[in-house]
Amino acid sequence: FIPSHASPDDFFQCLSASIPCQLVHAQSSPSFTSVLVSSIRNQRFTAPATVRPLGIIAPTNASHVQAAVVCGRRHGVRLRVRSGGHDYEGLSYRSLRPEAFAVVDLSNLRGVRIDKQNSTAWVDSGATLGELYYAIAQASNQLAFPAGLCPTIGVGGHFSGGGFGTLLRKYGLAADNVLDAVLVDAQGRLLDKNAMGDDVFWAIRGGGGESFGIVLSWQVRLVPIPPTVTAFRIPVSVDEGAMDVLTRWQEVAPVLPDDLFIRVLLQNQTATFEALYLGTCDPLLPVMRCRFRELGMRMNRTHCQEMTWIQSVPYFGMGAGATVEDVLNRTAATSAYTKMTSDYVRQAIRRDAWENIFATWLARPDAGIMILDPYGAAISGVPEPATPFPHRAGVLYNIQYVNLWFAGGDGGGAAQMKWVRDFYAFMEPYVASSPREAYFNYRDLDLGENAVVGNVSSYEAGKVWGEKYFRDNYRRLAMAKAQIDPDDYFRNEQSIPPLGPGK
Ligand code: FDA
Repeated sequence: FIPSHASPDDFFQCLSASIPCQLVHAQSSPSFTSVLVSSIRNQRFTAPATVRPLGIIAPTNASHVQAAVVCGRRHGVRLRVRSGGHDYEGLSYRSLRPEAFAVVDLSNLRGVRIDKQNSTAWVDSGATLGELYYAIAQASNQLAFPAGLCPTIGVGGHFSGGGFGTLLRKYGLAADNVLDAVLVDAQGRLLDKNAMGDDVFWAIRGGGGESFGIVLSWQVRLVPIPPTVTAFRIPVSVDEGAMDVLTRWQEVAPVLPDDLFIRVLLQNQTATFEALYLGTCDPLLPVMRCRFRELGMRMNRTHCQEMTWIQSVPYFGMGAGATVEDVLNRTAATSAYTKMTSDYVRQAIRRDAWENIFATWLARPDAGIMILDPYGAAISGVPEPATPFPHRAGVLYNIQYVNLWFAGGDGGGAAQMKWVRDFYAFMEPYVASSPREAYFNYRDLDLGENAVVGNVSSYEAGKVWGEKYFRDNYRRLAMAKAQIDPDDYFRNEQSIPPLGPGK
């Protein structure tokens, strides 16, 4: 039961019985704003008009999280959970519509415990990817974990929505490598894999954050990597033949050996090919010349940068000159306003369409960036129903459309937002359709929002966005939601609605 009217005073009173007061930051407290903005990555959601939480709870142990859930339900205050705060729509700390909610900020729960002998680790949701990667590298230079590029991303949201990076072709998603997890459900119970049951354990590994409860920690499988890996970054402008290399990349990148990951960044009139190879430069050069001539013939030993895997983390995820120690920096200092969205490509895009994209879309003064991540190999080898993440066999690559700007206020960003929306509309004939697919972790509210009917999110309305992120797995996710949270206590604008038995 959740009362229809919130009682914020009673909620805070209830929290005070179980949680030390210095861990609870009510809106009226002087610490509230600094805690709120501490992990906001998108300046769009620092604007005064943003619907803010009644308060932020920063638990230091599981019982605090359980108490927050029990008090929230009792007094009609919903909870949004935040791990790293990187959500593209800010749904871990803001609501689109007026709502009485509090944020559970897990940044104090960030332990990483490595079991080198068994090549596993337990990592708390509030840890960043950088903290996880660093702890693994401290334990061994031949173990790694396949997850995203940016070291400040939080484990909690990232694993919940899938999570991919430079090891995706060799080892798949972060979520594919989760062995166990600890969840606080909507009744405040602490559940491991066995206690939550198969359907819920399936759902939390890629079905998206917020919907099923608060995941406190994850047991993951660590993966073997060689002591030396090779990275390269080769820009090719349109005048230098980018169109040929890019057109060919689409066919080649998803079928290269799984040790080789080559992504492309398209900006202005240049395609930059960025790669990680799990080995040294010597065997890489012949593979490039033989399997991907268009780029391989432009490449020589000077392009190769041999390094350890942990050194490749700042190489791909941070600015030039960043060191391995910098991956531990949690500070979210960013002044950027951003708008992103995503697509999947199952049939290579024709050369003439790329010419049009460069000439029309990437040439504009307000243009953003396209990031193309190749699939194939391990990420595509997992059967579609095995996890909620459905973009598997047949996907050539993921597209991310990114635009950013540095001044808010009236009209700030209007041209950049329009560029993303218009370009997305233009791309429809070239990308996966029926449904048009999107990656949950690149959340975009333009794809649709929940409608709440009778105080529960509607399954039918949710299909609009849900089938884009999850295809046929959307229905099973909704059934798992009905098992663990039938009252829809944990919800946001794109959380999984409950679908009860027989529906
Ligand atoms: P945040 O805390 O905002 O949470 C995201 C969602 O998950 C919210 O709905 C939240 O309520 C929920 N949630 C958070 N913690 C939870 C928990 N413990 N239990 C249950 N629900 C929880 N992605 C990728 O796959 N590869 C990449 O390389 C990148 N790179 C990248 C760079 C940058 C700069 C940004 C801003 C984002 C990315 N991403 C990415 C996307 C990223 O994976 C995505 O935004 C994640 O959801 C972020 O997780 P956080 O915990 O940081 O976000």
